[in-house]
This record gives sequence, C-alpha cells and structure tokens, in this order.
Amino acid sequence: MGSAMLIVVLIAMASSGVLASDPSPLQDFCVADTTSPVLVNGFVCKNPMHVNAEDFFFSGFNKPGNTNNRLGSNVTTVNVNQIAGLNTLGISLARIDYAPFGVNPPHTHPRATEILTVIEGTLHVGFITSNPQNRLIFKVLNAGDVFVFPQGLIHFQFNRGHKKAVAMARLGSQNPGRIEAKDLFGSNPKIDASVLAKAFQVDKKVIDYLQRQFGMDNNN
Ligand SMILES: *[C@@H]1O[C@H](CO)[C@@H](O)[C@H](O)[C@H]1NC(C)=O
Repeated sequence: MGSAMLIVVLIAMASSGVLASDPSPLQDFCVADTTSPVLVNGFVCKNPMHVNAEDFFFSGFNKPGNTNNRLGSNVTTVNVNQIAGLNTLGISLARIDYAPFGVNPPHTHPRATEILTVIEGTLHVGFITSNPQNRLIFKVLNAGDVFVFPQGLIHFQFNRGHKKAVAMARLGSQNPGRIEAKDLFGSNPKIDASVLAKAFQVDKKVIDYLQRQFGMDNNN
C-alpha cells in the first residue's frame, strides 16, 4: 500500500471518530426556532437577522438546585432547551448539587462525553466499561478535581462527605440525553414484569416492587 493510500485510510478512520459527537455546524450559528412545525435532526434555524444576545444567554447557574428529594441530588441543565443558540454547536453544561450522602444515580448520556469539575465537597465517582469486561473505573474527587465519563457509559457520583457538594459538567452535545437504570422499571407503559424477572433472574415480586418504586403510575 502506497503512503498516499495509508494517509487516506488514516483520515477516514479519524473522521469516523468525529461522527461520534454532534454534527459540525455549516454556518456561524443556527439558533433553535422551537415554534417551527418542521422536524429535523436538532432544530431548524431562526432567521439570523432576528437573533439577539438573549438567544445565547442563561442566568442562574450560581443558584443551587433543591436537593430535598429522595436521591439528595439535583441536576440543573443548560442545554439547547435553555439556550436556543446552542443548537448545532455540540456542547452543553450541567450543575449538580448533592446533599450529604446524596447520589446522582447510575445513568448514561447516549449522545455525549462528560467532563466534570468538582467545585465543593468530596465525591465518589465511577463509570463501567462495556461488555464483556464491565470494569468499574472509580475515584474519590475533591474540589478542583476533574474527571471524564466517556460517551454512552454508565456512570454515577456519590457525595460521601457530611457536607454538601457541588460539581459543574460540560457535555459534548447540545442535547446529551439521560437514561437511568431505573427507567427499565419506570417505562410508560410498563415492560411486562415476566420479561424483567427472566432478564434479572429474580422473582416477579422483586420486579413488581421495583416497578411500584419507580413507576410513573402508582395506581395499579
Ligand atoms: C431541583 O431544583 C429546582 C430549583 O430549586 C427545583 O425547582 C426542582 O424541583 C428540583 N428537582 C428535584 C428533582 O428535586
């Protein structure tokens, strides 16, 4: 194989990696027009002449989310739903507040790698590699520490301190998405309990309990 051919192959391999994140913009910006009935991948663009600073602005990221809930955590997201100007730009933010012993439970972002900075407190964090190794890669982080959760992998953060904790995250998508382990038990409509009982090799009563715990509809 000639060296020119080798270079073409290497470029093809490198650019297929680029496709793992949001597509690149084809213009300066494409502020989301959320009123348009047209459905595209992302949002259609507002007329650029009608765009102003408010389309690129969000305020209140300094305010802690309320962690007075069962998990003892609260995620404040700043993605294309909060800043229309993020449409097509492939980036977003999250602020995560943790009460003492609060957890941001195991979840994945189907469309983004996450890089997290601890601002305050001590967090036990980790992610699990894919099949078949399923290695848990984990670490204890303190203020100023930065940790990466690769795209699509299950990850979590737990505040193991007696004081509150705060972290700021950057994510490589305008709309990273979030899938939690509990979504399996809280889908709408529910997955037939015998499917989950077989999948997890447990008694159907365990699944019924988890579906009651996480179901949207607790009436049945
Ligand atoms: C997170 O905090 C915000 C702001 O205080 C609050 O409106 C929201 O209900 C909280 N979410 C949860 C799940 O506690």
